[in-house]
Amino acid sequence: MTDRKLLALARAAAHRAYAPYSRFQVGAALLASDGSVFTACNVENSSYGLAMCAERVAVGKAVSEGKRSFAAIAVVALGKRGKRVRPCGACRQVLAEFGAKIRVICEDAEFEAGELLPERFRLK
Ligand code: THU
Repeated sequence: MTDRKLLALARAAAHRAYAPYSRFQVGAALLASDGSVFTACNVENSSYGLAMCAERVAVGKAVSEGKRSFAAIAVVALGKRGKRVRPCGACRQVLAEFGAKIRVICEDAEFEAGELLPERFRLK
């Protein structure tokens, strides 16, 4: 799986976003270490605070299918406002839970999950 392909999968997923309130469409494609890919989009709600980010939907899909080891996640947002999108703070915490080394692939940059939230909460 190439970074380009993972970004393309994330972009396709962004088109499935349910974002009637923000109109900000986000897609994610999470690559598990075994090569399987889980795509996701943001899912909003009329009770705004219940919005679910694409990245966390992707992690939820993967973990609930038995995957816990991840190599990379691509994140894409559509439109002018989506340029240079980065995972939000909550998503950074959730990604780092599964490994500081997970590559976070954005269209214009790449990071490691751990570097995106260096002083994150840890239980131990
Ligand atoms: N959103 C994501 O899906 N991922 C992020 O990393 C940032 C924000 C969504 C949540 C909400 O549906 C919309 O983008 C606007 O905040």
